[in-house]
Amino acid sequence: MSSTPWWRSAVIYQVYIRSFADGNGDGIGDITGLRSHLPYLKSLGVDALWINPWYKSPMADGGYDVADYRAIDPLFGTLADAEQLIADAHRHGIRIIPDIVPNHTSDQHVWFQAALASGRGSPERARYIFRPGRGPDGAQPPNNWVSCFGGPAWTRLPDGDWYLHLFAPEQPDLNWQHPDIAAEFESILRFWFNRGVDGFRVDVAHGLAKDPELPDLPHTLTGETDQARLGHVEHPHWDRDDVHAIYRTWRKVADEFDGDLAFVAEAWADTPERLAAYVRPGGLHTAFNFDFLMASWDAKDLRAAIDDSLAMLDGVGAPATWVLSNHDVMRHASRYARRTVKPWVPNVPYLPEGPADLELGTRRARAAALLMFALPGGAYIYQGDELGLPEVEDLPEAVRQDPIWERSGHTNPGRDGCRIPIPWSGPVAPFGFSPADASAAPWLPQPADWNERSVEAQTGDDTSMLELYRTALRIRRDHPALGDGTMTWHDTPAGVLAFHRQPGLTCVVNLSDEPYQLPEHAAILLASGPVENALLAPDQAAWLTR
Ligand code: BGC
Repeated sequence: MSSTPWWRSAVIYQVYIRSFADGNGDGIGDITGLRSHLPYLKSLGVDALWINPWYKSPMADGGYDVADYRAIDPLFGTLADAEQLIADAHRHGIRIIPDIVPNHTSDQHVWFQAALASGRGSPERARYIFRPGRGPDGAQPPNNWVSCFGGPAWTRLPDGDWYLHLFAPEQPDLNWQHPDIAAEFESILRFWFNRGVDGFRVDVAHGLAKDPELPDLPHTLTGETDQARLGHVEHPHWDRDDVHAIYRTWRKVADEFDGDLAFVAEAWADTPERLAAYVRPGGLHTAFNFDFLMASWDAKDLRAAIDDSLAMLDGVGAPATWVLSNHDVMRHASRYARRTVKPWVPNVPYLPEGPADLELGTRRARAAALLMFALPGGAYIYQGDELGLPEVEDLPEAVRQDPIWERSGHTNPGRDGCRIPIPWSGPVAPFGFSPADASAAPWLPQPADWNERSVEAQTGDDTSMLELYRTALRIRRDHPALGDGTMTWHDTPAGVLAFHRQPGLTCVVNLSDEPYQLPEHAAILLASGPVENALLAPDQAAWLTR
């Protein structure tokens, strides 16, 4: 038994609960549905589940607008269901990491309702960020900050006050300088730790500390500049140094409990150094590595993302965590499905160019999975990655639900296309997502040909994405070289990545247009596609034992 904490090498499966499995037939995924598929997750071989917000919410942003952090939304079940899920998952050897949303609440949260009722200048308003407007009659917003979902970050109330929302107007930002906020979130953490959760994914972890002066964004930060390439520029509300004090306290709260609890930060930082600051000793445990997710399908780009991230994290003694897709981004089978993968500019919606070649995208997604699972550290699977689900890019406008679609004036399709309910079995929609006698169709329509991508259709098919994931995760669990540790690059021609993990495993990924000759006598442990005459085809990856 090694004493390495589990989160240094964990494979964590992201459950977007609304789209995972519908137990009660209302067309919306729920805890009962999730519980019934724990054996599937166990057989897939994952160590933990990150569950997107399941709290009571008016669902203006898929549950990221929380009205009560201590209650489960009736759409998903009850607190007793959640407790049962945690117990069942633990019996399966699977840990549970819910999302926590500390940057903002719902506008239906009691605190915001009290703030509205209590009027201008009241102590109730001090828990949020209320300000008078600018201009002679205060009709201009207090500053030029913009909402991540489009439009201004301020909404005016009939009494003249404006309140800040970095996301939708239904998601007012909390004022983390107010002592009630820290105290309340520490209590919420304890509430869930006492119910057995194994950690939290921290939503918008980089957003909590705002410059108290609320200055305008300088014009260099309002344009579509490629900030990641420019280095760090101090920002009035993102990734400010003060934010770390909050997480040092959270870490102390987690350390009060037994069981090796872990936080993972959703922190968007300009540089790997800035990201590493979240996971210094005494801070959060891990952070998503979005540079890897945003890298093009390009050997140089990927290698740079891997090297920079490992170097910075190593400096603070934290493990890397790799991720290819999540509920906010275009699924990678579709991102990689363009011959030239468009460079991704942070803070600007990723809209691909040209039609998707899903055969190409799938080939690359298979290779990317072997790359990701071979890298040192932990890895995330977004539900459906293991089925090779593509982005649904042709959703009818009428069914789109993401607030980004409306708030961007219909210029950004938003994130519904990566949130389509999972196909489990059967020839026709809802493909086992809902029970046979369901009273409603799935909340977003599934493509008619997803029968071919269902869990049932892929199970036992050695060429399927699902079986590739299952095999890769089984090997990863058993092979001493994989998971936490170090890696060494091999010299390879341009376009080919190869690295060694001690003891005895080499991962080779061919991102070039030419077949790559594998070393003589190399034994192939696993390959992302058929390998003939020891030639690794373009867009293929292999794990070698010698
Ligand atoms: C979540 C999004 C959400 C936003 C606001 C994020 O970064 O991942 O899905 O819309 O935070 O809470």
